[in-house]
Amino acid sequence: MTQQPESDRVIIFDTTLRDGEQSPGATLNSDEKLTIARQLARLGVDVIEAGFPYSSRGDFEAVQQIADLVGTPSGPIICGLARANEKDIKAAADALKPAAKGRIHTFISTSDIHLEYQLKKSRAEVLDIAQEMVAYAKSLMDDVEFSPMDAVRTDPQYLYEVLEAAIASGATTVNIPDTVGYTTPAEFGALIKGIVENVPNIDKAVISVHGHDDLGLAVANFLEAVKHGARQLECTINGIGERAGNASLEELVMALHVRRQYFNPFLGRPVDSTTSLTNIDTRQIYKTSRLVSSLTGMIVQPNKAIVGANAFAHESGIHQDGVLKNKLTYEIMDAQSIGLTDNSIVLGKLSGRNAFRTRLLELGIELSENDLNKAFLRFKDVADKKKEITDRDLEAIVNDETQKVPEIFVLDSVQVTCGDRAQPTATVTIRKPNGEELSDAAIGTGPVDAVYKAINRVIDVPNKLIEFSVQSVTGGIDAIGEVTIRLKYQDYTYSGYAANTDIIVASAQAYINALNRLYAAKTKLEEAALTVNS
Ligand code: KIV
Ligand code: ZN
Repeated sequence: MTQQPESDRVIIFDTTLRDGEQSPGATLNSDEKLTIARQLARLGVDVIEAGFPYSSRGDFEAVQQIADLVGTPSGPIICGLARANEKDIKAAADALKPAAKGRIHTFISTSDIHLEYQLKKSRAEVLDIAQEMVAYAKSLMDDVEFSPMDAVRTDPQYLYEVLEAAIASGATTVNIPDTVGYTTPAEFGALIKGIVENVPNIDKAVISVHGHDDLGLAVANFLEAVKHGARQLECTINGIGERAGNASLEELVMALHVRRQYFNPFLGRPVDSTTSLTNIDTRQIYKTSRLVSSLTGMIVQPNKAIVGANAFAHESGIHQDGVLKNKLTYEIMDAQSIGLTDNSIVLGKLSGRNAFRTRLLELGIELSENDLNKAFLRFKDVADKKKEITDRDLEAIVNDETQKVPEIFVLDSVQVTCGDRAQPTATVTIRKPNGEELSDAAIGTGPVDAVYKAINRVIDVPNKLIEFSVQSVTGGIDAIGEVTIRLKYQDYTYSGYAANTDIIVASAQAYINALNRLYAAKTKLEEAALTVNS
């Protein structure tokens, strides 16, 4: 059955697992991708672009697993990316087979600059390829999306022609990418208007938009596009993605939510309609943001709109005074609408497993029995050290305990001596994959440096630490500290995350997590090279 364009609602197409994962260092393993996909389904996204199946065996398997486990009849559409060639398209169709609702997203560049320097093809050749490959994708799957890459820098007359041909060949969604993040809101709105007016069969397809944030305009561009007929927004959690990232899902959704009355008429609704413009459960936004940040190692800046730590904090006296008298004086949305709670004491050290599970469920966190057991043990450990366990602490504990880092090297213990009269010294004990336990010690410029040097003496994989960040989960001297690091090995970046009331332990664990990721990837690459050479 052909998908009919919906005109009075905006379709949210999440590409965190495909374009978002293209952020340097945001590489996720298949378990982590599945965890995020499950959360995206809870968030209520309409489409999950789960990966680029032809690009690697790992991506193929991750898309297949998400199609199988998240692509249920009542779940989201699962989409796979494919260049406009038969091998890519076939791989996408194969990976998507288990999904109740699958979508092939195929693309080819259409701007003259890409045609001349990258594809080395004429406009006529690209037009033919687009038609043939959309028709091929259609022969394998009913739901087909077509993207003319670098659409914003494409000659509009040629763009109209390609879009008309793609729709005639079976595309049910046509996506307009601002691949290089170049356009401005008025220009992008005019481009969408031009498409609506000049592509004769445009009523047979949903108009989608995709854009990068190089000039910080992606969200504004998309909102203008909605006013002119775009009905699908391609975005990522926390706006992660290539270079400056993609349009941020939480900003788009909350703009459409908070400013419903402004947008309603553009979607043919009465101004004061209270029906949501998207299918997103906004109370899942904060949790999804935290999950993506901890699994990708991409830290959310404190002043980031909607999900930054300061987004709902009022610092100035005048603002605090106003908010205390009436929240609406300085607040345009309620922190609870994105799932933030101000519950301070949730559980104590005497709380049992059932209370722990119930509170997690109240927070919308559902864990497998195994993950629940691990998280509960950790909760007990933290509750021994910290008087008040807040919802944010619980999220940090769960993110830390349930992340799916390969356990190759296990940190057994870490000890440091430091202070203004002592040379920082660290001793670590690490269990190697063969079960052997190795201890070593090192001195450093500070305690973390000493710990990392001691770890390097045991795990000898040369790498460059390119980012180290410590954030406190809540206020208070006994707060849990979250450490996120990124390190570089050859051309790849690997991230590590850990949370602990002791930031030295969190630093050591985050480093081991990143090294485990690096080691697993290195082993896979070496195995692949051996297969190729033998
Ligand atoms: O930015 C881009 O143009 C893309 C396409 C593959 C849609 O990511
Ligand atoms: Zn992109």
